[in-house]
Amino acid sequence: MSPTRIIIDTDPGVDDALTILLALASPEIQLEALTTVHGNIGIEKTTRNALAVLEFVNADCIPVARGCSLPLVGTPPRSAEAVHGSSGIGKAVLPEPKSQPMDQHAIDYLIERILAEPQEITLFSIGPMTNLALAIRKEPRIVQALKGLVIMGGAIRQGGNVTPLAEFNIHADPHAAYIVFHSGIPITLIPLDATYKCLLTTSDVERLNRIDSPIARFVRDSTAVYMDFYKKYEGFDGCALHDPLTLAAIIAPELLVFEELHVDVDISGGVSLGNTFADFMNVSKKPANMKVALDVNGRGFIELFLERMESLACKI
Ligand code: RIB
Ligand code: CA
Repeated sequence: MSPTRIIIDTDPGVDDALTILLALASPEIQLEALTTVHGNIGIEKTTRNALAVLEFVNADCIPVARGCSLPLVGTPPRSAEAVHGSSGIGKAVLPEPKSQPMDQHAIDYLIERILAEPQEITLFSIGPMTNLALAIRKEPRIVQALKGLVIMGGAIRQGGNVTPLAEFNIHADPHAAYIVFHSGIPITLIPLDATYKCLLTTSDVERLNRIDSPIARFVRDSTAVYMDFYKKYEGFDGCALHDPLTLAAIIAPELLVFEELHVDVDISGGVSLGNTFADFMNVSKKPANMKVALDVNGRGFIELFLERMESLACKI
């Protein structure tokens, strides 16, 4: 079976960086490009980190398009430096990238690539959805041309991680999420309900570092700040692999438990801004607009992640 061709829209970000590595370590996936967006940190650093991670694994032939620096509405987003460190990749240190992002803006790149090959590209959105929302508004035809969209975002039965009701990617641009949720694109949503069950622990990181490899050291150093944050504020040993879990939709869908649901997002501007909610009782009589992973075999995914990192570590 030929690999699934994907573009990742990303705000690297520790777990974003691990997603890029996992995509490159997975034969089921052909990573076509990265488009960057504001989010965990500002656009300059998310773009720099995207370029640096690709060069780190000799994949700088993969193009990077720089995207939006601000959400559709409101003030600059609150960054997540407490989780991802001021660099955005924790305590990991990667050389300044030699490569540059392409001249074309991420919005125009997404439109051009998706329309050029209808039903060929699956988009993975693992940051705020500002780029995709503006691409939909500028060129609505991408809705029919996209093969699929997998989103890391939202919290359905689970509480939020940035407000009691909202998950970070949605809260960082709730109006963009509203446009995407109502677009008609076939969506697979991977919310906190599933991702918080995928905890990479310190012993997992120690196991990986039995291999003397820059990859193993990158996983250790990039997650160090992340681990400290989770220990201090969430009380558990480990860090949730939010973004990497999206790739399970391709590499191990059997690990995910899906429900077809109508999901919406609150943009009314009050305390529940960015809250994502599912119409479980179908009281709205609206058809399901997405497939939602409400559960996962979390350890099964972590084992798969570690196997793929070990195989990558043996090559790099
Ligand atoms: O809530 C988790 C999401 O927010 C992940 O995409 C992480 O990278 C941060 O952007
Ligand atoms: Ca992210």
